[in-house]
Amino acid sequence: MSILTDEIKRRRTFAIISHPDAGKTTLTEKLLLFGGAIHVAGAVKSNKIKKTATSDWMEIEKQRGISVATSVMGFNYGDYKINILDTPGHQDFAEDTYRTLTAVDSVIIVVDVAKGVEQQTRKLMEVCRMRNTPVIIFVNKLDREGRDPFDILDELESELKISVRPLSWPIGIGEKFKGVYNIYENTLDLFKPDKQKVSERLEIKDIDDPLIDETVGEAEANKLREDIELIEGVYPDFDPEAYREGRIAPVFFGSALNTFGVKELLDCFVEIAPSPKPVASKEREIDPNEENFSGFVFKIHANMDPNHRSCIAFVKVCSGKFERNAPYKHIRSGKVLRFAAPTAFMAQKKSIVDEAYPGDIVGIPDTGTFKIGDTLTSGEEIHFKDLPSFSPEMFKYIENTDPMKSKQLEKGIQQLMDEGVAQLFINQFNGRKIIGTVGQLQFEVIQYRLLHEYGASCRWEPISLYKACWIESDDQEALENFKKRKHQFMAKDKEGRDVFLADSNYVLQMAQNDFPSIRFHFRSEF
Ligand code: G4P
Repeated sequence: MSILTDEIKRRRTFAIISHPDAGKTTLTEKLLLFGGAIHVAGAVKSNKIKKTATSDWMEIEKQRGISVATSVMGFNYGDYKINILDTPGHQDFAEDTYRTLTAVDSVIIVVDVAKGVEQQTRKLMEVCRMRNTPVIIFVNKLDREGRDPFDILDELESELKISVRPLSWPIGIGEKFKGVYNIYENTLDLFKPDKQKVSERLEIKDIDDPLIDETVGEAEANKLREDIELIEGVYPDFDPEAYREGRIAPVFFGSALNTFGVKELLDCFVEIAPSPKPVASKEREIDPNEENFSGFVFKIHANMDPNHRSCIAFVKVCSGKFERNAPYKHIRSGKVLRFAAPTAFMAQKKSIVDEAYPGDIVGIPDTGTFKIGDTLTSGEEIHFKDLPSFSPEMFKYIENTDPMKSKQLEKGIQQLMDEGVAQLFINQFNGRKIIGTVGQLQFEVIQYRLLHEYGASCRWEPISLYKACWIESDDQEALENFKKRKHQFMAKDKEGRDVFLADSNYVLQMAQNDFPSIRFHFRSEF
């Protein structure tokens, strides 16, 4: 086997997603601990890690104490090379998370045992389903009082719309939490609250082993046996292939804070999770094992320091070997570029790399060359598919407040949109620019950055909109007719596609009824 194939096979590139506070940061930190990428966890409290090492280079993030940025954490675990793509916890930056999900090969979802499936998780799962991304679920905080695990499984299935299969099972919960029976490996892990160390592990023969009764008590042991019998009766045997095809989600239980159930998760994950898969381009499918390099930009990360205005473009390597200083074609501009200082993210350190393989993320210093979704190749004219945009939740007109700086404002808006900070729509009726975001915070970020990076000042004016829908139809006449009828509400997105700005749910429903031949999409990828 070639080096390339070996390197691909050992890579696991994934993201951890959750509703804020379910324990994503804590779990990430514990995974880094197992990988030897950091040496102390738990005692260092997740927030500290949040604020220093894991994800923020941005001033704004320090000010607000929330994770605005998405970064990458690479480390070796046994024979595996693991790349965790961090996603912003704050829901106002959900769009960043959606894009990050285009660059991963699988996902771990963290759910709080007391809260079950929450809104953000539901939405992110939708994105995973769209792409058949394999998903493992970690039910967290078993050391606290929570819901019945069977209830949780039902809820996961109905709310996340995916079949589930428990691979570990809790014995008791909260105060009575004794440990976890590892169905996958047939071992018993006994719970000892400890933020630094790994739990105690007991090898057992099978579920009937009297050792279980001795260690957790007879009543609990019997309850466990009943539960396992039920599980084996209700759920089909675990099929790793079905998981890799995104049809079934294995479920683990544990407590990230107490480092409990985390190693089991990680060990199973590296074994069953997919290595980098072929990626669809507009022209053809690109296999990671192809010799020639290809990759795409899924994230542009701005440096918020006004004295060093620069960005890092995050490139996901899709095929071949990426090499420092090699000539690569930037397909959108047709230019051949060489990258002298590409960086990789290993063990919390950002350092220059000479090469990278499919599944790896390379950071390329950028001063405005790249746009989200750009393709780089060894020369072949291929275009990876557009990254999806979702209909924003909030809309505002953006207005210039300094006529002397209108050029700066133009440029700033253009670049921020290329970075994917928010979405721009141009109203075709009055030519006004509308910025669409997922949350209020993005408007503040845009205003702050326009001022500090471009010297342009703007103000926001309200506009009452419900949704932006991308429209298309096989019936051109109906489409033209619709656009004429709704000309005040028609806009173009940054790619020049037609977007209908519906000001209420009612108006949208009426439009759908009146124009059955038109398809209304709530995301740009259809
Ligand atoms: P997030 O990134 O998904 O937003 O969650 P994060 O890891 O920051 O965890 C949110 C809170 O939940 C933190 O407490 C964290 O300590 C706690 N937590 C994480 N895993 C567990 C667990 O297994 N059991 C229990 N009991 N708690 C857990 P916090 O109070 O918000 O932070 P702090 O004040 O402790 O720093």
